[in-house]
Amino acid sequence: MLDLPALLSSVPVIPVLSFRDTDEAVKVCECLYREGLTVLEITLRHDSALSCIKAVADALPKEAVIGAGTILNRDQAVAARDAGAVFGVSPGLTRQMSADIRTLDWPFLPGIATLSEAMTAREEGFSCLKFFPAEISGGIKFLKAIGSVLPDLRFCPTGGVTGATAANYLALKNVLTVGGSWLTERDASGEIDLSIVQTKASAVRATL
Ligand code: 3PG
Repeated sequence: MLDLPALLSSVPVIPVLSFRDTDEAVKVCECLYREGLTVLEITLRHDSALSCIKAVADALPKEAVIGAGTILNRDQAVAARDAGAVFGVSPGLTRQMSADIRTLDWPFLPGIATLSEAMTAREEGFSCLKFFPAEISGGIKFLKAIGSVLPDLRFCPTGGVTGATAANYLALKNVLTVGGSWLTERDASGEIDLSIVQTKASAVRATL
C-alpha cells in the first residue's frame, strides 16, 4: 500500500479543492501540478466531485497523486477510490468509519481536533492525521503540546492555514505537510483565476 507519510512529506502543501465541473478541475489541477504541487485533494462537496476526480486522474501525468477529501462514510470512500482517488481524507473519525476503512485497504488520513480524538485514532491504528480545523483548534501551540505527549503521531494541519502561516507549521517536527484552499480561492464572480493560482503556487515553491 502507498506510504502515506512519505507521500505527504514529499510536498509542502496539499491544495484542498472543490470544483463546479470537470473542465475547471482539469485546468486548475494542471496548473497546480505544473507548479510542483503533485498531491491534490478534491473534496466530495460538490455533485461533480467524483467526475472531477476521474477527469483529473485521467488528465494529469501518472506522477500526480489525487486524493479525495470530506469522506464521511464507506460508500463515499468506495466511490472515490473507484473514481481514481489514491487516498482518502476525512474531517474526523468514527469507530464505524475506522472499521469500514480497514476493510478497504485504502490509504486514509482521518481528522482530529483534540487530544482524545488523536488517542482514539492512534488506538485505531492511524499515526498520520489531519489536524482540522487547525487554526481555531489551537494551531501551532496545539501541535507542540501534542508532540510532547504523543510524539509518534504526524500531522497535516488544515483549516485556516495560509501562505503566510504555512512555513511556521512546516517547521514543526510532527508536521508532514499542510493542507489548504488558499491557492484556489474564488474571485467576486465565483471564478478561480488561473493566473492567481499560478502566482500563489509558485510562491509556495519559492518559499516553502
Ligand atoms: C478542508 O476541508 O480541509 C478545509 O476546508 C480547508 O480549509 P481552508 O479552506 O481553511 O484552507
